Amino acid sequence: MCGIYGCCQRAKAAKSAIGGLEKLEYRGYDSAGIAFLEGEKIEIIKSVGKVSNLKEKVGERVSNLAIAHTRWATHGKATTLNCHPHTSKNFIIVHNGIIENFKELKSAASEDFYSETDSEVIAKVLEKNFENLTEIKDVNERILNSISKTQNQLVGSWAVILICRKNPSKIYAFKNKSPLIVAKGKGENFVASDINAFEKREKNLLKYYNLNNGNIAEISRENVYFYDEKLNKIGIKEIKKQCEIYQENCNFKHKMLKEINEIPEAIYSTKKYIKKSDFKKLSKKLKNYSKITIVGCGTAYHAGLYGKFILEKYLNKNVSVELASEFRYKTQIKEANELVLAISQSGETADTLAAIEIAKKNGAETAAITNVCSSSITRICDYVLLTHAGAEVAVAATKSYVCQILALYMLASSAAEKRIFRSLENVAHKAILNFSLENLKEFLGIKKFFFIGRLCDSATASEGALKLKEIAYVHSEGYPAGELKHGTLSLVDENSLVIAIITQSEILDKTLNAVHEVRARGAKVLIVSQFDLEGEGKEVLLPRAREEIMPLISVLPLQLFAYHYSDKNGLNPDMPRNLAKSVTVE
Ligand code: M6R
Repeated sequence: MCGIYGCCQRAKAAKSAIGGLEKLEYRGYDSAGIAFLEGEKIEIIKSVGKVSNLKEKVGERVSNLAIAHTRWATHGKATTLNCHPHTSKNFIIVHNGIIENFKELKSAASEDFYSETDSEVIAKVLEKNFENLTEIKDVNERILNSISKTQNQLVGSWAVILICRKNPSKIYAFKNKSPLIVAKGKGENFVASDINAFEKREKNLLKYYNLNNGNIAEISRENVYFYDEKLNKIGIKEIKKQCEIYQENCNFKHKMLKEINEIPEAIYSTKKYIKKSDFKKLSKKLKNYSKITIVGCGTAYHAGLYGKFILEKYLNKNVSVELASEFRYKTQIKEANELVLAISQSGETADTLAAIEIAKKNGAETAAITNVCSSSITRICDYVLLTHAGAEVAVAATKSYVCQILALYMLASSAAEKRIFRSLENVAHKAILNFSLENLKEFLGIKKFFFIGRLCDSATASEGALKLKEIAYVHSEGYPAGELKHGTLSLVDENSLVIAIITQSEILDKTLNAVHEVRARGAKVLIVSQFDLEGEGKEVLLPRAREEIMPLISVLPLQLFAYHYSDKNGLNPDMPRNLAKSVTVE
């Protein structure tokens, strides 16, 4: 994960880099560092903890060029030594990704290592190649050749931005698998892990370019040049920015709360714009696939569970759902006419991308439901359905999940030629407005949660449990309601809260049976349902929508409950410990 940023800009480069890191902080926030050119000197400042710590250390500095990094540790703890930028005699680098052969490269390097990271090796290998290329007299050419050679030696994933002390008026960037976007302006140029990290500019003043694997960018204040791996100068197609630059918290205490409140608007936009993508083409073909497999991770996998429910119900066809991190390693059974459909908010999740690559090798057609139009997944899948949730920055997926559910519902409805339930944004708005923490205060101290449901409610149960684990650090399990009695029921006692999601009339009584069973074991119960189940215990009453799309509504109070639980317990729901938003490592 990690976020990297680089810029060449008159006087304000260090400030711009810190601003960029603040927007990239969702990618990692255990330490941060910056290198910038101040006069003739390159300053390097590092700091453990959030970007705000680094910002304070850096203060106001006049600089024309800077590179910076916010870290999510993979190799070595969050210490100043392990913090980027990493250096060799002439090279200063920031890196996002994992260098898998770092041990091998380390033993062949000529300089000593000071950190536990895999990233430091990039600086050292660049140095060695630079030393060995003395026959190239032009320093820019020598740096480019060192980069090209280094890329051939690295194994793994990387997006790297660097400064070379021998030519400190430029920054260079190169990538393999990890994302890297260049923004070209007038007298200022930038590069970063995410298109939303760049400074705001008047319309069209910045042009964006998404680097391909192997590409190298040479960036100065005046120019940007792109090269392929053999150092031929190339052109890269401009990409358009999909959505507004992220609006700061507005009047909300946290980004997560803001993003939940944006859900009605996200539903409206997704309904309106999803059809602009490959929606029609894919929905027409859907019935004809002999096999449909959905892949995703975490919340996206839970959306996949809903996808299975709705596609099977509407198309009367078997659909399987797999965790992308498992799918990629399992025995691949070739089947003619198969579709592998990946779900990924970021479109950058390493396991999901790997699953798609494997599916392609296996001859399957591939499709993606994603929220980021310039993401890697959009470039490798045959069909792309774009959700329009808008930028989601809080680590917990909320509005993106709702839009994934909506996309799957719309896809299944269109393939089955069914009309969709239209006023979803209004119902979602009502569910958010109706949520009252007051009624749930008694549950804020509980430490043992079980979320249960059947059919599509079981996907919601898993998602509700994940949210609570992720941002409130309490133990919670999501279970299909019928499964409790096969083992887990032994954990249920008077200290437990069982949250039962009941939105499907055909299994209402069956889930109520499970409610009675846990209550008999002393557990507290909270029911989340659109049916008035007064007499069954405390209830969060949901506004009504068509039953098949109720998972889009029933998850809202669960997201809000997890948010408030985290906040009331003094945690930061936007940045849960040990996690990051975009999981670009395996
Ligand atoms: O970007 P993706 O949708 O591929 O991310 C997948 C998961 O990492 C993500 O959904 C994760 O589980 C969420 N942070 C949970 O809230």
